[in-house]
Amino acid sequence: MPPILYMAPLHGITNRIFRKAWFKHFAGLDAAMAPFILGVPTSSASDTHYKDLVPVRGATVPLVPQILGNDAAHFVETAKVLATMGYDEVNWNLGCPYPMVTKKKRGAGLLPFPDLVAAFLERVCSALTVSVSVKLRLGLRDRRELLALVPVLNQFPLRRVVIHPRVGTQMYGGTVDLDGFEEASGALAHEVVYNGDIRDVPTFESLQKRFSRIDTWMLGRGAVADPFLPGLIKGGALPQQPAMVIRAFHDELYIDYREALDGQRHVLDKMKELWGYLGQSFADADDDLKHVR
Ligand SMILES: Cc1cc2nc3c(=O)[nH]c(=O)nc-3n(C[C@H](O)[C@H](O)[C@H](O)COP(=O)(O)O)c2cc1C
Repeated sequence: MPPILYMAPLHGITNRIFRKAWFKHFAGLDAAMAPFILGVPTSSASDTHYKDLVPVRGATVPLVPQILGNDAAHFVETAKVLATMGYDEVNWNLGCPYPMVTKKKRGAGLLPFPDLVAAFLERVCSALTVSVSVKLRLGLRDRRELLALVPVLNQFPLRRVVIHPRVGTQMYGGTVDLDGFEEASGALAHEVVYNGDIRDVPTFESLQKRFSRIDTWMLGRGAVADPFLPGLIKGGALPQQPAMVIRAFHDELYIDYREALDGQRHVLDKMKELWGYLGQSFADADDDLKHVR
């Protein structure tokens, strides 16, 4: 069976416009998880709250929306709106590492509190008919936190558990903890998805060899830096003129951002951010990137 590959949620990057362009120009990803939206009471949701998630007519790639928050009632209200939009799975963000978020016991800030997670899932799972999945880290500070949480997670009918094997205090630095992933994924009763630092085909192949029971994988920064990577992982070949494909993707993104965003500054910031990733796939790009910036 070929691996199933998801686009990871990258807030500010893998938005609706990016996803549309990426899936038009590149191959290999089977589905995407959208960047988080906040769980909010329906009465206070503005028109723009669900904008990134409005279903695209003719879209063939499944999308899983994600909610960040620790208020079960708000999560339920938000998930119900998403269900009316046609989604059948909502993902709970238990991985966001930013102190502004974790200090409020949201994202990875909830990982050290199994009782709070249990109470939240109890309310959410009993109130919703859509499937609930979670995306999390090994802990906020220590991988033993997820191990302590596993018995709680195993009590609930989660659709899947996506593990990014870092702890929150690492943010995105340091290395992924593969022993920690092995331990936690072995203890979970659910389908587990691996996510983290898949940057090239050899890295993917060594992960696949080590974790042979995992059949779904999620790529974030790797698929932005090298959009051909998912296709190569699936056994495809590079196109004849890869740079031309990148250019077509790039130009479409630029035009769509110009239409959607207010002001050149925002468009420029988006494109510079993209180049920060794409540039990693060009040899000796430092000088050229300086010019771009
Ligand atoms: C800029 C940025 C934004 C992110 N936004 C989200 C998000 O909205 N929801 C989420 O669950 N993870 C988010 N993440 C984490 C990624 O989904 C992923 O777990 C992490 O980047 C590791 O995977 P990768 O090495 O394949 O990128 C974000 C990461 C980055 C770098």
